Amino acid sequence: MTHPTVPLDIAAIRADFPILDQEAHPGKRLVFLDSAASSQKPRQVIDAMSHYYETSHANVHRGIHVLSERATAAYEGAREKVCAFINAASPREIIFTRNTTESINLIAYSWGRATLRPGDVIVLSEMEHHSNLVPWHILAEQTGVHLRYIPVTDEGLLDLDAYRAFLREEPVRLVSIMHVSNVLGTVNPVREMIAEAHAAGALFAVDGAQSVPHLAVDVQALDADFLAFSAHKMAGPTGIGVLYGKRALLEAMPPFLGGGEMIRRVTLEGSTWNDLPHKFEAGTPAIAEAAGLGAAVDYLGALGMDNILAHEKIVADYALDRLSEIPGLTLYGPDASQRNGVATFTLQDIHAHDVAQLLDAEGVAVRAGHHCAMPLHKRLGVAATARASFYVYNTRDDVDALVEAIYNARRVFGLGG
Ligand SMILES: Cc1ncc(COP(=O)(O)O)c(C=O)c1O
Repeated sequence: MTHPTVPLDIAAIRADFPILDQEAHPGKRLVFLDSAASSQKPRQVIDAMSHYYETSHANVHRGIHVLSERATAAYEGAREKVCAFINAASPREIIFTRNTTESINLIAYSWGRATLRPGDVIVLSEMEHHSNLVPWHILAEQTGVHLRYIPVTDEGLLDLDAYRAFLREEPVRLVSIMHVSNVLGTVNPVREMIAEAHAAGALFAVDGAQSVPHLAVDVQALDADFLAFSAHKMAGPTGIGVLYGKRALLEAMPPFLGGGEMIRRVTLEGSTWNDLPHKFEAGTPAIAEAAGLGAAVDYLGALGMDNILAHEKIVADYALDRLSEIPGLTLYGPDASQRNGVATFTLQDIHAHDVAQLLDAEGVAVRAGHHCAMPLHKRLGVAATARASFYVYNTRDDVDALVEAIYNARRVFGLGG
C-alpha cells in the first residue's frame, strides 16, 4: 500500500526532540500521543532559552545596560516573530500573556466589563474548552450578560443554523469560538462565522489553542477581532501565551492587571497607561519563555505550516482508519475531511482512565478524562474519553503502537484480541 508523503524529513524532526528518544518503561519505546495537552520542545527552543540565560538575562525595558538591551531585544524580537507568524498588522497587537486561558480572561475582564450591559448576548458553543466558558460564566454572573451556546450536531459539527438564528434574533456583542476542537478535532469554519458575526454587528474572538500550532492562521485574512493561543502547544515553552487583538479595540480597552511596566505616569492620586502592547503586560514578563516562543515560531515556520498540517493529516487519517477497525471502539468527531489532529475514543464500557493506564504500560501516552470540556462530554453522553493527539513528530509507527496497545487492553479486559 502506498501512502501520501510530505516534503518533511520526520526522522530528522524527531531527532530535534530529545525527549522522544527514550523508553517509557523498560523495553517499551515512548510513544507520545498527548501533544494537544502540551507539545514537546525541539532542541532549538531549549537552546534558545539556555542561550538567553547564559548570555543575555536582565530585566526588560528598564536598565540602560548591555544585558537589559539584549533581553529587551530577545523579548521584543519574539513579539515581531509572532506578529509575522499570524500576519498581524503590527507587533503592538501582540500581547504576551501566560496562556490561552489568561488571554481569554483578559478579553472578558477588560473588554467585557468595560463594554457590555445587562441583556447583551455572548455566543459560545457546546464544544468549548472550559477556558472559553468559565471566564464568560464569571462575567455573566457579575454583569447580567446573557450567554448562548451553539449546539453540536450528531456529526460533531457546530449547528450553524442555530448560530445564524442567535445572530438574527439577539443583541449579540461577541462570539467566542474555538477554531479546532481539542476533543472532536472539528475544524470550525471560523472565517465564514466571523463574516456573519460582523454583518450582525458582533465581534469575534477565536480560541486558537488547537489551530495556531497546527495550521497557518492569518488574523487579517480571517478578520478575527481577537485570537488567543499558548506557546506550550506549539513546540514552545510553558508560561507564555498570546492575545492578538485589533489595535483599535486594544487601544479602547482598559488595563487588565495593574503594576509596573504597564503605566506611563503614577502619582498618589492615580495612574495613566503605557502604550500598546505594554498597557496589558504588568510586571516582569516571561522573557526567557518569549525567547523560546520566538525559536518555536522560527522552527515551525522553517518546516512550513502547510507541510505540518499535511503530515498530521496523514497520521490522523491513518489513525482513524485503524482505530475504526477495532471491535468495541467508538470514535468521536466528524469525518476526516472536517477534522484535524486528534482521535478521541471509548472502548466499550471500560473507563477511559483504565484504558489510558494500560496504554501507558505499553509506553503509549494518551490523555483520558473530560479534556476540560465537560459540557461536550455531556452532549456525547459519556463521562470520559481517551484521546490520542498528533503533532509533526508523530508517525504511522506511533499509530500502530497505539492500536497494538488497545488490542492488548482488550485482552486484559477479557474482550478478546
Ligand atoms: C481549545 C483549547 N482552548 C484552550 C485551552 C487552554 O490552554 P491553556 O491551558 O494553555 O491556557 C486548551 C488546552 O488544552 C484548548 O485545547
